[in-house]
Amino acid sequence: MQLTGVQARILPDAEAVADAALGIMLAAAEEAIGARGVFRIVLTGGSTPLLAYRKLAGASAHWADWHIYHGDERCLPSEDAERNSRAADETWLLQVPIPREQVHAIPAERGAEAAAAAYEPIVAAALPFDLVLLGMGEDGHTASLFPEHEIRPGPLVMPVHEAPKPPPERVSLTPSALCRTRRMLVLVTGAGKRPAMHRWLAGEGLPVARVAVGGNALVLLDEAATPQLEH
Ligand code: 6PG
Repeated sequence: MQLTGVQARILPDAEAVADAALGIMLAAAEEAIGARGVFRIVLTGGSTPLLAYRKLAGASAHWADWHIYHGDERCLPSEDAERNSRAADETWLLQVPIPREQVHAIPAERGAEAAAAAYEPIVAAALPFDLVLLGMGEDGHTASLFPEHEIRPGPLVMPVHEAPKPPPERVSLTPSALCRTRRMLVLVTGAGKRPAMHRWLAGEGLPVARVAVGGNALVLLDEAATPQLEH
């Protein structure tokens, strides 16, 4: 399957996607820590990555050198079950000894504008990332970059209002930040993502397509999300 400007690997199912993502994340960490003494990874929200996060909870790694960032966050109280930071904590980050001062949650409970402003210097100090993880919504969004939403050039972090995926108020890294990375992985699983994958294959300028090209991404998708090849 040929996606313009990115590589794609089709795997049998979500478990295989999570296993492949685990292997790539651990290898990227070893390489970064060996070369620079630190591994800076941006996490995606949503449900797709949770299988891989649970596998990381049982993995062995040089956790003391991992620095965690988030690609986006929902403007909800910090302990809300729908927060991306809460999901990553519960499935993985609270089960491994990454120093908590190295886990950089987006303070989205402060509201979109204040949180974006507060997170901007944290992202600026972290660039370039070593690995950016992304998902894809059924409309082709990634992080909280939605179709038809303006993305101003310049900022690394932006407030998001009226997001079509609830909650409406969010904070997102922009392509300027997401694409400043040594590696990028996009995880796509499930039949619900097939129409967006079809649109991506057809060359539509979806947010995920734009970011994936900019980040020279590897897309890991399962067969359920893979459009049936036109015959
Ligand atoms: C979010 C995510 C979002 C997610 C996609 C896919 O905050 O919702 O960051 O970009 O990656 O919507 O979500 P699923 O993995 O749940 O399908």
